[in-house]
Amino acid sequence: MTARRFNKDFIWGAATAAYQIEGAAHEDGRRDSIWDVFCRQPGAIVGGDDGAVACDHYHRMPSDVALMEEIGLRGYRFSISWSRVRPDDADFNPAGIDFYSRLVDELLERGIRPWPTLYHWDLPAAIPGGWTNRDTAYRFAEYADRMAFALGDRVHDWTTLNEPWCSSFLSYAGGEHAPGHTDPREAAAAGHHLNLAHGLGVQALRAALPDGSRVGTTLNFTVADPSDPESATDRDAARRIDGLQNRFFLDPVFRGEYPADVLEDIAHLGLDEHIADGDLAVISAPIDFLGVNYYNGVAVTGRPDGGPAASPEANGMRTGNPNIGSEWVEFVSRGLPRTDMEWEIQPDGLRRLLVRLHEEYGAPAGIPLYVTENGCAMQDVPDADGFVDDRGRVDYVRQHLEAVHDAIAEGADVRGYFVWSLLDNFEWAWGYEKRFGIVAVDYETLERTPKASALYYRDVIAAQDR
Ligand code: FCB
Repeated sequence: MTARRFNKDFIWGAATAAYQIEGAAHEDGRRDSIWDVFCRQPGAIVGGDDGAVACDHYHRMPSDVALMEEIGLRGYRFSISWSRVRPDDADFNPAGIDFYSRLVDELLERGIRPWPTLYHWDLPAAIPGGWTNRDTAYRFAEYADRMAFALGDRVHDWTTLNEPWCSSFLSYAGGEHAPGHTDPREAAAAGHHLNLAHGLGVQALRAALPDGSRVGTTLNFTVADPSDPESATDRDAARRIDGLQNRFFLDPVFRGEYPADVLEDIAHLGLDEHIADGDLAVISAPIDFLGVNYYNGVAVTGRPDGGPAASPEANGMRTGNPNIGSEWVEFVSRGLPRTDMEWEIQPDGLRRLLVRLHEEYGAPAGIPLYVTENGCAMQDVPDADGFVDDRGRVDYVRQHLEAVHDAIAEGADVRGYFVWSLLDNFEWAWGYEKRFGIVAVDYETLERTPKASALYYRDVIAAQDR
């Protein structure tokens, strides 16, 4: 791997999200987000865990940034907690904003490019109706404007949303993520309102940021292959998964329309009722980059006997497909090696995805791609000193970096890679059970210990300069 060269401006980064690492859930004016509320629901989170302390990053931020410098990171993708910044859906909270301002200063002092995301799922609980309420999109724009005003002199790369598929379909139809609803009609409304929030957020950021700032979004993608390529039913199942997970969010942004086939698939969900005149023009305002989150691909069938069923999580979603379209879909195991999330390891899916996204979306819009999340949960076993020799994770990262390199060789304009995640952290519905970090966190002592994968990543980054 170290033999492969990336462009000298390629951003080598790591990613985290506020609720997963910060803790200090009720300090300095922060109030409940929908995740704090969801975590109190019995049975919602494995082990009854929550993000009240998490990695305590809120109090350990300077030393965490020092750790990033030791690894040699050139970029750090973090999210801003809306619930810290505007806790009651009323006044903004200067102490909350100050935390992010200090974080940005600390990063810049150490030569690390700040790459904030405005929304990584921790919606203030005080906002009535959450994402089913159209008004939430306008609230998002106000929040975006305030953050641009606070950090725009130092932050140049802004991301509106992280994975709106998760905050809509998985959260309002799948029931696995906050607020834990299981109503597909709510999910469709939430999906549109998130798309609208993105568009309104882009407008607000553009208006408030200095020239030269860049604005983008981050989506989570799957690569859906028909279990049997000869079967028209399976090919159609793959089309439907691609439609709902990928194109429902790509096409409004890049083409100013929802894909016709998806509209037909979900005609029974009342999406039309939520689309006001002019919404799609707002949503499709030009952006400057696309963030790509990729963990695995899926094989799908529409036939009852289409293959051995994959475990419910194997589709890269956290619970089986909520199956809200008009036709039944099943995920099929391909027998590939799996991570601790049961997600099948398929690095070539990343190459194919990047080439496709470049050809169909990035290149026509003239914008680059960044891999904003990629990584794996593994069953880490620390030795007596807390060191984790996570060879499986090293292999995973190496294979996926090779896939990125191959995609670039095929013409895809990919300009950065952010490994998920810097630290072991609160893995949403899985609590602290799943470990994704390249740095181990001992949840008793909160001590951080770089794993073999962090040392490997450090060497890859350092080798680029030689
Ligand atoms: C993504 C999320 C991120 C993390 C990884 C494993 O879907 O954006 O917060 O949980 O999965």
